[in-house]
Amino acid sequence: MTCPEGAVALISGASRGIGDHVAAELLRQGWSVSLGMRQPMLPAWAEDHEDRVHVMAYDAGDVGAEQRWVDAALARFGRIDALVANAGIMIPKTVIEADDDDIDAMMSVNVKAPRRLAKSAWQALCATGRGRVVILASLSGKRVKSAGAGSYSLSKFAAVALAHGIRQAGFDMGVRATAVCPGFVATDMAAVLTERPADLLTQPDDLARIIAMLLSLPNEASVAEFAVNCQLEEFF
Ligand SMILES: NC(=O)c1ccc[n+]([C@@H]2O[C@H](COP(=O)([O-])OP(=O)(O)OC[C@H]3O[C@@H](n4cnc5c(N)ncnc54)[C@H](OP(=O)(O)O)[C@@H]3O)[C@@H](O)[C@H]2O)c1
Repeated sequence: MTCPEGAVALISGASRGIGDHVAAELLRQGWSVSLGMRQPMLPAWAEDHEDRVHVMAYDAGDVGAEQRWVDAALARFGRIDALVANAGIMIPKTVIEADDDDIDAMMSVNVKAPRRLAKSAWQALCATGRGRVVILASLSGKRVKSAGAGSYSLSKFAAVALAHGIRQAGFDMGVRATAVCPGFVATDMAAVLTERPADLLTQPDDLARIIAMLLSLPNEASVAEFAVNCQLEEFF
């Protein structure tokens, strides 16, 4: 699997969990990476590769942060080939328990911020003729698995729609967008949601390899959605 020569990827929520693993895997496969973090810090795995790693303050709740990040990444690397909108939050409340603040918080981080990020990076993504966008959605964007996942699902269904909307808007310019839809992944987020042992959950390293594969596919192999699960369900 190869990445385009000199290719640059932006990864939000790269401080830990899936985002951290995706960034490390992309670097390993030859990408230059720009890491969006609430508290910017060079990860240990990046220490010998500072020429290909850029770290930037990025809070998904801060309108304007995405444009500052895109501008800084372009100033550093001169191009943006891929965007992995990974930062996300889960508030485990039913649609009856949740109040508007809960819904707004999840819509803000899981949907509105990735949309603004794609919009800010749009010109650069289109300029490559093969821009890639991965939206870290969820299987909760495909089905409502339980009452407690209802409010989160609301935001993740919208995140799946966002990926489809980006794919539709960018197809003629070579942009391909994928909604990546995992079930439980062994990170901090899942640790408080399931009692399944971590080694029986999808591993963030495996998801990182999937995302790197999706980013490396040619324009003629567009993948609109990619579902991945650690357990048996009827359709996933
Ligand atoms: N783990 C799962 O089972 C699972 C399953 C399906 C989908 N997902 C999705 O995958 C993505 C990554 O999840 P994860 O499991 O890696 O979660 P995680 O371990 O909880 O990490 C979440 C990441 O998002 C960042 N983040 C949260 N709020 C942010 C904000 N306002 N601005 C910027 N960054 C913010 C966190 O940064 P800080 O370190 O600063 O908090 C952290 O880097 C999310 O979109 C999640 O919904 C996860």
